[in-house]
Amino acid sequence: MPTPTELKAEILRLTREYSALMHTGQRPGDDPAHASWTPGQTIPYAGRVFDQDEVEAAVGATLDFWLTLGPEGEAFEKELAALLGVKHSLLVNSGSSANLVAFATLTTHKLPAHKRILPGDEVITVAAGFPTTVSPIIQLGAVAVFIDNDPATGNIRPEQLESAYVAGKTKAVMIAHALGNPFDLGAVLEFCRKHDLWLVEDNCDALGCTYSMPVARAKALGITENSPGIPSDGVNITRYTGTWGDISTQSFYPPHHLTMGEGGAVNIISRPPLKTYAESFRDWGRDCWCASGKDDTCGKRFGWQLGELPKGYDHKYIYSHLGFNLKPLDPQAAIGRKQLKKLPAFIEARKRNWEVLRAGLAEFEDVFDFTLPTHATRWLPPSARSGTARSVSNLSASDRFPFESCFEWDQTGGRTDTSWFGFMLRVKPGASFSHTDLARHLDEKKIGNRMFFGGNLLRQPVFVQLKKDRPDAFRVVGEMKGADEIMNQALFLGTYPGLTAEMLAYEIAVIGEFVKSKRG
Ligand SMILES: Cc1ncc(COP(=O)(O)O)c(C=O)c1O
Repeated sequence: MPTPTELKAEILRLTREYSALMHTGQRPGDDPAHASWTPGQTIPYAGRVFDQDEVEAAVGATLDFWLTLGPEGEAFEKELAALLGVKHSLLVNSGSSANLVAFATLTTHKLPAHKRILPGDEVITVAAGFPTTVSPIIQLGAVAVFIDNDPATGNIRPEQLESAYVAGKTKAVMIAHALGNPFDLGAVLEFCRKHDLWLVEDNCDALGCTYSMPVARAKALGITENSPGIPSDGVNITRYTGTWGDISTQSFYPPHHLTMGEGGAVNIISRPPLKTYAESFRDWGRDCWCASGKDDTCGKRFGWQLGELPKGYDHKYIYSHLGFNLKPLDPQAAIGRKQLKKLPAFIEARKRNWEVLRAGLAEFEDVFDFTLPTHATRWLPPSARSGTARSVSNLSASDRFPFESCFEWDQTGGRTDTSWFGFMLRVKPGASFSHTDLARHLDEKKIGNRMFFGGNLLRQPVFVQLKKDRPDAFRVVGEMKGADEIMNQALFLGTYPGLTAEMLAYEIAVIGEFVKSKRG
């Protein structure tokens, strides 16, 4: 009779064998073992990239059958926090849940009164993007104050922040790094510090992207260190997005930089008490912070007197917040841990794929405006670059993408190194076709494409209705011309690591033929 250990080892050996045969289509695009692809077959805009490591981890954790967030989850939280260089990461079951928990954390009565976000307080956010960046603000009774997007970057226009601010009312800024493109963290943080506001970074689309600013400017903001593993150049501070503000969020849904199926995380960047509050909102609103399966972490389970409960009431069932239960499962975390190991290669692949599309479509600048990284003023064609940046297409997985030489930059000293969630372009108003025409054509050719999530969210049925039902739920500052431009003209293609060179070449050829046919 085989022992349980021997049986498990055999199951896992067979699992790896099965996955190696079954999942070749989900390997990285530059992996020689990637399943062959021929024109006419679907090219997803995004998807899971994995191999037998993830499948073995999922099966192994399932055999262990802990199920609820447990040892794998605890390990993943520590590994993610260490990679980013933040105080804590808390796993949740989606990026949307992460935004909900992050925002709820800032409403706790345990914060000093002037920092606590109460119903009616205002939170500045951005008009075009993903809806669940914004919805927690309104769901929890605060007022969402919308400012416009810059269509060139997809991000907010920081110069609009001051006009959105109301002394005594504004408590926070909650915005996303659009499609991975870091927003102007220098300007946004200076604004937040000036008015003592929280900054919630929705980093769901931007894991592994970095932002740099000159050391003196960063020091003035109280930021003195690079993220772990990023060498100092003595001139700039360079940190991952999601590590500059107070609290940030990740999504691990399949199109994102790493996946655990459904999943997400809340990163507590620098103020440790926020972790306890976030955990409470994630875990039913409870006051107790015992991990799953533990009973007396505080050492006085029956020694508390809180609220109007009798002294000694079981701390495990004491609730200090109106909470949720937003935890993922342990087998999901086991998958996430394997993905985390592959993250550096995934990050670089997205940059290379973006560059291949940008160079391949450069001859169509008469009909397309292409997204620029924040602080870049112009994309440089390879012939106009120096050094290694000339032959970016030859970079291997371990080479760092030479982003600085690929663009011209503004004078702020801010730099962004983007691991793109997608390759966004805008069809110029003068073109003889619309972004919908292009999207339809790409669909016919089975090339995955997406619009920029909800476009101008204010034009979505939910906000039109909200304006009728609860007109005080949000406020709009100025005209949302940039958000409308994105809604009317933008489209994005995939950059995910599963794309092969042949797929990218096919996408470029199909778009080229389409544009030429429309030029007549
Ligand atoms: C910017 C942004 N925030 C939040 C989310 C929500 O993440 P999830 O789908 O995991 O709920 C998304 C989803 O893609 C997103 O793009």
